[in-house]
Formats: sequence, C-alpha cells, structure tokens
Amino acid sequence: LEYKLVLHMGFNLISGIHSPEVVDQIRNFEIRDSDVFVITYPKSGTIWLQQILSLIEVKGDVTATNDQLNSERVPWIELLNSEKQFVSAPSPRIHVSHLPYKFMPLGLKQKKGKVIYVARNPKDVLVSYFHFHKFANMLETPKDFDTFFEKFMEGNVFGNCWFEHVNGWCSHNDEMNFLYITYEEMIKDLQSVVERIASFLGRNLTPQQLNDVVEHSTFKNMKNNPQANYQQVPVILLNHQQGAFMRKGTVGDWKNYFTVAQNERFDKVYQQKMKDVPLSFIWD
Ligand code: PPS
Repeated sequence: LEYKLVLHMGFNLISGIHSPEVVDQIRNFEIRDSDVFVITYPKSGTIWLQQILSLIEVKGDVTATNDQLNSERVPWIELLNSEKQFVSAPSPRIHVSHLPYKFMPLGLKQKKGKVIYVARNPKDVLVSYFHFHKFANMLETPKDFDTFFEKFMEGNVFGNCWFEHVNGWCSHNDEMNFLYITYEEMIKDLQSVVERIASFLGRNLTPQQLNDVVEHSTFKNMKNNPQANYQQVPVILLNHQQGAFMRKGTVGDWKNYFTVAQNERFDKVYQQKMKDVPLSFIWD
C-alpha cells in the first residue's frame, strides 16, 4: 500500500486512507438534530475532544469507555466506509473531522446538528505536525524543520492551509449551531471548557460527573490510558518507536523551533490572512 497526498477538489486526501467517493457523499448526508461534529485542523486537539465527548456521553464513567478506543467512540467522518455506516449509527452520532468547510454536510446550514470548532495556535500546530510527520508512516518524513516549515506555509500537507481552514469554518459560524473553543483555553481551564461543551450539547452532568470527565481527559491520564493514547494504531500507520501521539501537550513549544526570521514571516502572513475572521484568537 502506498500512501500519498492526492489533491481532490483542491484539498489533499491521503490515498489508501481516504476515499474521495465517500468524502464527496458527506455533503448530502442527512443530518439529525442530535448530530455533533468536532472540526479541527490536524494537531489542534482532535483526540482530546474524542476523549472528552465520549466521557460526557457516559457522564464521566471511564469504565464505560474501556471496551473501545476513543477513535471508535468518536470516529472521523472522512474515514467512514460508506454513507450506510453513517445512516445506521445510533443517535447521537458524534464525529470528528479535519475536512474544510466546503465538504461538510449542507444540513448543518439549516441549523441541524451542532459543530464544535477547536483551534490551536498555528505555530504550535506546525511544531506538533512536524513531529507527527516523523513517525506517521502515511506521511512523508520531512528532511528537517525548515523544510517542513515551508511545506506548512504552502499548505502542502493534509489539512492544507491552516489559515484557509480556520477562515472557512469560522467566517460561516453564524450559519450553524457553532461552538468555538481553543486548545489554549483547554490548557488553562479544562473544567470550564468541559462545562461549556456539556451545556452546548444540552447534557446535564453533576459537578462530580464533570470533574470525572476532566480527570480522565488530562494529558497525563490520557497518555497512560491505552484506550485514549493512540498506541494501538497499527504500525503500518504509526511507527511508535519514533514518536507518540501524546507528545508534549503544552502551549508555546514553537519558541523552541522557530527562528526569529521564521517567526516574523509567520506573523506577517497571520495578520494578513486573519484580518477578516470574525472571531478573536488569543494564544498566550
Ligand atoms: S490529529 O492527528 O490531528 O488527530 O492530532 P490531534 O489530536 O488534533 O493533536 C495532537 C496534539 O494534541 C495534544 N493532546 C493534548 N494536549 C493536552 N492535553 C491532552 N489531554 C491532550 N491530548 C492530546 C497532543 O499531545 C498533540 O500535541 P503536541 O504538541 O504534539 O504534544
């Protein structure tokens, strides 16, 4: 099996993993009011949200999640085999996705279902993605950090251009039932973000149950939880000798990698591309 990025309608899919046919069907999936989609650019907190959302559904009882990986509890919509799999899933159907706005179900625009968009400081995203490329067998190993920096700026990665991903979703926020959260807020105050998510989804949890959700979603506990840390992903996809999904889990790691020149260049692009986005991004 050869994995490579293949451009499909202007968006990179990973051949051998994503089916363009299924991705094309997603727009016309019939959406239920109870559907939930967590949308992220890669490396922005996806598996963290898989853990949090599945724990909210079982009111914080981690033993109820032990028989399934978080990637099965809250699957990627772009990894479904067919529409049939989506249609036959019981409510509430909760999925994550890295897809850009243009591929997503049109029903969302009729205010059916709910969208949670998670954004992370793109500089930290870049660093996390750099490390991910080194141990993900389905992605090309970058020669060095500078090479990857260029690739990311060009949008020549799965997820394409970070700026376009965030812009696409966030400039249409008022069309959908939309909750916007950031990775940095979750690092700062996970409890209040979990409360916000539960209330957005209309789930009533007791303070103790909310505490349990938070407790089992911390970096340390997820890293030690084989159902949540992605160490079960087959070696054909991830070379677990070379890295870990639960890598560092911090804010500001970019400062250890960016040169002054790279940082200045990044800031310039950021200011230019983000000036029309109606949401505020506070990273520190
Ligand atoms: S992917 O491949 O897109 O699904 O990756 P994603 O899950 O979006 O991002 C992986 C990064 O999220 C960090 N992570 C966490 N940080 C803090 N707390 C918790 N609980 C947590 N869970 C996952 C993970 O460590 C990756 O970031 P880096 O900076 O590489 O550590």
